[in-house]
Amino acid sequence: MTDKYTQLVSHGLGKDVAKRLGLPQPVALRRYQPGAPLVTGPVLVNGDSAGADDVATALLGWGLDVRRNALPKEKLGAIILVLDAVQHPRDLAKPVLTAGTSLRDLAANARVVTISRTSGSARTPASAAARQGIDGLLRSLAKELRAGATANGILLDDDLATTSPSSLGALRFFLSGRSAYVDGQFLTVRSTSGMVPTDSEKPLAGKVAVVTGAARGIGAAIARTLHRDGATIVAVDIPAAGDHLAAVANEVRGTALQLDISRDDAGHRIIDHAVERHGRLDIVVHNAGITRDRLLANMDEGRWQSVIAVNIAAQLSINEALLASKHFKDAPRIVSVASTSGIAGNRGQTNYGASKGGVIGMVRSTAALMEPFGGTINAVAPGFIETEMTAKMPFAIREAARRLNSLKQGGQPQDVAEAISFLASDAAGGISGEVLRVCGQQLVGA
Ligand code: NAI
Repeated sequence: MTDKYTQLVSHGLGKDVAKRLGLPQPVALRRYQPGAPLVTGPVLVNGDSAGADDVATALLGWGLDVRRNALPKEKLGAIILVLDAVQHPRDLAKPVLTAGTSLRDLAANARVVTISRTSGSARTPASAAARQGIDGLLRSLAKELRAGATANGILLDDDLATTSPSSLGALRFFLSGRSAYVDGQFLTVRSTSGMVPTDSEKPLAGKVAVVTGAARGIGAAIARTLHRDGATIVAVDIPAAGDHLAAVANEVRGTALQLDISRDDAGHRIIDHAVERHGRLDIVVHNAGITRDRLLANMDEGRWQSVIAVNIAAQLSINEALLASKHFKDAPRIVSVASTSGIAGNRGQTNYGASKGGVIGMVRSTAALMEPFGGTINAVAPGFIETEMTAKMPFAIREAARRLNSLKQGGQPQDVAEAISFLASDAAGGISGEVLRVCGQQLVGA
């Protein structure tokens, strides 16, 4: 699953030429395969707090080869930098510089993960400075890593242990091949809800999941990935995509629901179908989306309204029905697909940017409404993903968009699907109202 350029510069003459000309040299990313090891080598846990000891103990419990001090010249699968006790920016030097001496020993596709505290919960300006400093440090480090290695961070509110269920859930996600195209990002854990992740390869077993826009592209990948992880799938798409929809639904042994999600009764149709055919509804993935690009100076009302209707108004209306339903009360999950265009903006996409920024605002606000019954809602914001949509971009623009990120390649639909599957799992129960970018740390914009 690598593009032609990546294949060309990965071996022999192509590799030498790319190196001499200073061209981007992407590597094939380590993606999740059932049965594959969580990491590719020993895991170094840096930091001398009690929270660091607890993390090391938890990792031993997962059967990992854990180090508290690096051995000379040993190739490391991951470095975990536990910075939960820093009180002042000066406290960063020792653990960070110690970790720095091990960076040259990272194996290809290795992981660096920081565990620290949210700056918003700091009690002094110095502590807030130290905590927020980790943000800049981590994002800079992610830009320095090579050979498919990534750096991501976990943020914990003050009263949460480094080994709270969703802290370990996020750690497992970041270490694994599931997060291959997530780089330079943070996940915040705000509660002790959720379950400590086990080694199970079926984290969604027994759950019924609805995926909108499932007939092709990212939606089809989400349906396949959630099914692989144990969920029963309801695949939703417009009637015009009926044949492709039926093929995806058959492949994942789920059911198809032909439905335009912008219809007023869409929420009720989704709930009724899931409950009548499968007896319950646990997960809704709002993936369906459209683009109708034009510069704002040339934008007509039809283009504007249709994008708002499908990409955000439909999600708001379906969520209203879900929140009111007695069938959506057993620690349910909503995951929405936003876009980096809704964060950094994109020329020609004022309508799309408004709709995807809207998804982010909706997710943050709805989190409080889901909380009383143990529900969560989060968004993923994909960057450049290799789909039919991006294949149609003009060559030069496509090549620039594909390479201008820390991993120097586009993401695969599976990468978005893996993040969604994690956020839909019990292990992510303490994470809500978050936006996780799946963009390889895009270098353009925010
Ligand atoms: P796609 O165009 O290949 O697939 C979208 C699917 O949604 C199609 O099957 C379509 O029939 C369905 N759909 C559209 N309107 C619908 C409606 N009213 N009711 C039900 N289904 C409807 O798009 P792709 O690339 O797979 O994108 C999926 C999501 O990811 C979208 O929300 C998109 O905005 C988002 N995204 C994609 C990126 C990319 O690089 N491909 C980047 C960032 C976000």
